Amino acid sequence: MKFFVDSADLDQISELNDIGLVDGVTTNPSIIAKSGRVFKDVIADICKITDGPVSAEVTAIVADQMVQEGRELRKIADNVCVKLPLTMDGLKACSILSREGTPTNVTLCFSPNQALLAAKCGATFISPFIGRLDDITLDGIELIEDIRMIYDNYGYETEILAASIRNVNHVKDCALVGADVMTAPPKVIKSLANHPLTDKGLAAFLKDWENTGQSIL
Ligand code: E4P
Repeated sequence: MKFFVDSADLDQISELNDIGLVDGVTTNPSIIAKSGRVFKDVIADICKITDGPVSAEVTAIVADQMVQEGRELRKIADNVCVKLPLTMDGLKACSILSREGTPTNVTLCFSPNQALLAAKCGATFISPFIGRLDDITLDGIELIEDIRMIYDNYGYETEILAASIRNVNHVKDCALVGADVMTAPPKVIKSLANHPLTDKGLAAFLKDWENTGQSIL
């Protein structure tokens, strides 16, 4: 499963990149607002330190303007992926941009039928929002399962990008049901390595090692 970082924080992206855990980055208008920086500047900076796709979201709501914004965003760097909302206008813009060879990420997906539409319109990625479904007591993982089956039934190449990941169980469950990609905040990605038995075991090994009085170097 590919790991995308859901953040515009350059330090956090770099830190995870150095570990080898970054296959791409996703942003949205809220994340950009939180960064306090100029949209195009921050996307350009993220693209420089990221080899994979970097999702940058349009803010127009009419298809023609979405396409214009998408073309503008694509000028920032070759690895910009244009993020579009799952509306009829967003789908139309997705079809147009996809035919031009622009990578697209159709976002705010909450149902299997929405995901089916995005695949038919040539989306590179579909972003089902797991956490926001859980917030209203619906099953976000079941949505990923349903989309996986539909895409496999028809051989759609659109990649399932599980988004709105809030905890480590979301990551595990998305991997179990076959999401192609997951995007999560840096703190969730970092916490994947945590286990109390790892800490306890390491402390015991180090104590025993110290008692030998040896050193490797
Ligand atoms: C993904 O592309 C979205 O930016 C993000 O995952 C939304 O997460 P949230 O529901 O925690 O805001």
